[in-house]
Amino acid sequence: MATLFKGKKRTTTSLVLSMGLVFAALLYLPGMIWFDNQTMDSFFRWWVVHLWVEGVWELIMGGILAFLLIKITGVDREVIEKWLYVIVGLTFISGILGTGHHYYYIGVGKVWLIIGGIFSALEPLAFLGMALFALAMYRKGEKKHPNKMALNWTLGTAIVSFVGAGLLGMAHTLPQVNMYTHGTLVTAMHGHLAFWGAYGMIVLSIISYTMPNMTGRKLYETTTGALAFWLSNIGILGMTVAFGVAGVAQVYLERKVGMDFGDVQKEIQVHFFVLICCATMFTTGIICYIYEFIKYGRPTDEALELTT
Ligand SMILES: [Fe+2]
Repeated sequence: MATLFKGKKRTTTSLVLSMGLVFAALLYLPGMIWFDNQTMDSFFRWWVVHLWVEGVWELIMGGILAFLLIKITGVDREVIEKWLYVIVGLTFISGILGTGHHYYYIGVGKVWLIIGGIFSALEPLAFLGMALFALAMYRKGEKKHPNKMALNWTLGTAIVSFVGAGLLGMAHTLPQVNMYTHGTLVTAMHGHLAFWGAYGMIVLSIISYTMPNMTGRKLYETTTGALAFWLSNIGILGMTVAFGVAGVAQVYLERKVGMDFGDVQKEIQVHFFVLICCATMFTTGIICYIYEFIKYGRPTDEALELTT
């Protein structure tokens, strides 16, 4: 933030990013209040966890995404920042009361079933907005920017976070569904793709954009870079499917048929084999990314001379 405020330009993008950072720090506090009662403790703990991932992080992500789209697509800042307002609005409207989806059946009032159900059903809208926003700006733009890897990661972030966080979150957020799926592999299915899209990919996007600028190395379309992108994304999609199939089977056997937890895990073992294969593919992709990061992470001699 000190760096942002040292700069001469105050933009909507930097304001949204700063807001996200301030709220992220402030929302750490409710988790530090001590309660002897488990329900009270859970009630306030979700102010931290939920409002972080489904509130302030969407601001941080929206801010970084807007920055990348301005730089990469060449579309006017004014146009992109108008979209950013819409996304911030949708995030607040749905995300704050959407906290209710963590209050199902934990000992708080029944009114949270209705509030949580309605507002979390609206939550995918913010992510849908982000995906449409990124694709629309790409189509509108001049497509002249040479950094193809940064473009892939940026558009990928918008699409994968919509599918993982938006759609798959919606898949088990209604109280009638969540009563059965809570704490099963269905949660893991949503969680893995959501975190990858909304947390992992946005970070790799900004690194892919800034690293060539900072080092003076034109890492725009390398083979290792392409492998990193495709292996990690195809790998995690496979993991999501494996988690999903295992999760649905688990819900049916454990919560409908009434089998024991351990017996069910044996029945769905085969899906974990698929999961490990896909996770290996994912990890290989990440190793490619780290390899390139370490290999080319230092500035070239010419780039160093320019800065001194
Ligand atoms: Fe949540």
